[in-house]
Amino acid sequence: MAYFLTFIALFLAFIGTLIIVILGSIGTYLIFAGKFMRFSPPVPSSGRTKKALLQDAAAFLEARQNLTVVDLGSGWGTLLLPLAKKFPQHRFVGYELTKLPYFISRWRGRKLANLQFKRQDFFAADLSEANVVFCFLLPAAMQKCQEKIVPRLQNGAVLYANRFALPNVAPTRSESLGSAYETYYVYYIENKV
Ligand SMILES: C[S@@+](CC[C@H](N)C(=O)[O-])C[C@H]1O[C@@H](n2cnc3c(N)ncnc32)[C@H](O)[C@@H]1O
Repeated sequence: MAYFLTFIALFLAFIGTLIIVILGSIGTYLIFAGKFMRFSPPVPSSGRTKKALLQDAAAFLEARQNLTVVDLGSGWGTLLLPLAKKFPQHRFVGYELTKLPYFISRWRGRKLANLQFKRQDFFAADLSEANVVFCFLLPAAMQKCQEKIVPRLQNGAVLYANRFALPNVAPTRSESLGSAYETYYVYYIENKV
C-alpha cells in the first residue's frame, strides 16, 4: 500500500512538473518573441475585432471573383483559415517567419487548396497581385510597411490594419469596437492612376 501511494504521489508530482514546464516554455516563448525579435510577436487577432475584421473583409470578397488575399505575418492562420474555407474562388497567401505558428497554420490549412502559407519575410515578397492585405504589426513595422509595402500595392487594393495604423496615411475609414485596442483601419490604395 505504501509503495502504491508513493508511486501515485511521484506520478502526480511528475505530471505537475511537466505541465509547469510546458506552460512556462510557451509563456517564455511568447514573452521573448515579443521582446527580442525584430518583429511583432505571434499574438493572433481576437475577440470582437477579429469578428468584425472577418465580416468586413467577407463583405468585400463576397461581391468579387479570383482575388488574392495576403496576410503580412499570418501567425497561426487566424484570419486566412476561415476566409479561405468560406471563399474557394479566391487565393489566400500568408507570410510568416516564426516557426511554430507557421508550421501550425500550415497543418491547420492542409486541406485547403486555395490557401498557402510561406515561411518568408513579407518585405521581400512580391505583393503586386494582392487585392486584399491584412496586417497586425507593431508601430515600427507599420512605419516600414508604409514606406516599403504600400507603394508596391496595386491601385484598388484594400489594406486592413488591426490595432496599429499606418503612421502618416489617413485611413479611408476606421472601425472601433470600443477601446483603441479594438480598432482596425481600412485603407483603399490609390497609388497609380
Ligand atoms: C501580431 S501577429 C498577427 C497574426 C495574424 N496576422 C493575426 O492577425 O492573427 C504578427 C505576426 O507577424 C509575423 N511577422 C512579423 N514580421 C514579419 C516579417 N517581416 N515577415 C513575416 N512574418 C512577420 C510575426 O512572427 C507574427 O506572427
